[in-house]
Amino acid sequence: MRILLTGGAGYIGSHTAVVLTQAGHEVVILDNFCNSQRSVLERLKSILGKGLLCIDVDVRNTASVSKALRDYQIDAVIHFAGLKAVGESVQNPLKYYANNVQGSISVLQAMQEVGIKTFVFSSSATVYGDPKYLPYDEDHPTQPMNPYGWTKLQVEEILHDLSKSDPQWKISCLRYFNPVGAHDSGLIGEDPNGIPNNLMPFISKVASGELPQLNIFGNDYLSKDGTGERDYIHVMDLADGHMAALDFLSNNSGWHAINLGTGVSTSVLELVEAFEGVIHKKLPKEFVERRPGDLPIYYAKVDKAKNTLGWEAKRSLQDMCRSSWDFKKKNLSPAQ
Ligand code: NAD
Ligand code: UD1
Repeated sequence: MRILLTGGAGYIGSHTAVVLTQAGHEVVILDNFCNSQRSVLERLKSILGKGLLCIDVDVRNTASVSKALRDYQIDAVIHFAGLKAVGESVQNPLKYYANNVQGSISVLQAMQEVGIKTFVFSSSATVYGDPKYLPYDEDHPTQPMNPYGWTKLQVEEILHDLSKSDPQWKISCLRYFNPVGAHDSGLIGEDPNGIPNNLMPFISKVASGELPQLNIFGNDYLSKDGTGERDYIHVMDLADGHMAALDFLSNNSGWHAINLGTGVSTSVLELVEAFEGVIHKKLPKEFVERRPGDLPIYYAKVDKAKNTLGWEAKRSLQDMCRSSWDFKKKNLSPAQ
């Protein structure tokens, strides 16, 4: 299959590019590099032993997306391109709706024009909002708590309407839980600039000495040890999940929302302990106030992914920590 990965130079897209290419698919990346580095392409080349085609364009440029779909005779699109910083989406909602919702509509219009109807969408567990029960299954009510989450839910709704309007569409909305970890080569991974918002990149920067200590946001939640619990999933398992979704869509039309998680709930302290086990060192840490807007606990019910896609996450918490640390060690700035 020839697959267009919008946002394919980013964290999840680049790992998915590796998995799909190694499985024999032809991958074309389309990215405007607003949150990724061009050097990712060289790194992908080192991993794969061949370069991937890349188009440097904004997904909102519908004519360029159509041209790419035609020129490369694309069969399916995985739409990773999007902005993902929750705090920024609260400060600047228009930027998020314009990029994530308008961007998705643009890609879909281009696909409709060219007649390509297989689409995998990067959605998020954030569409569920405050848990009415746990684990979240795909029928859990959706009530996002911030503009970022609403952009994901709105695109899901647009996709649902599209599938009802034309039964030939094959659409999968993959609701990711908390992706962490990196490819075993240590060449690609998640490396946010500055102070990371998310836990694993923050821990890595404390371990490398780039940040002085980990602040643990709250130790008085009604959770197993008082700290927040999440469903961390290895990015390579997530990448495998995309391939499974494409296989599934080759025989199934309609709209399908599917959780991609492990079904395991891990506390902040458990993740820190696993990381400390990998680096054989204790990390400086302190309990601080809860982070506003944080949910105490959430994790996935994973039966639908297992039953429909025949996919389940395989990698352990140790694998997630080890690969994150390998990536960090290989990508230290010269001062470290
Ligand atoms: P990322 O920022 O590393 O990758 C996104 C890529 O999309 C980047 O390379 C960026 O340059 C590109 N991009 C953004 N806007 C674009 C535009 N208008 N035109 C072209 N390219 C554009 O993020 P990621 O972690 O790889 O996430 C991929 C997708 O998964 C996003 O849609 C994100 O919202 C979603 N998601 C991520 C997480 C997570 O924790 N990483 C969780 C749930 C959902
Ligand atoms: C965040 C996003 C969510 C996104 C998810 C995916 C917010 C409000 N939510 O959620 O939309 O889908 O990332 O990766 O930003 N923690 C600390 N110290 C830190 C950082 C985090 O204690 O420095 C704790 C948090 O309180 C939480 C856990 O670690 O309990 C995980 O946090 P994080 O990695 O930011 O993920 P989410 O909160 O799930």
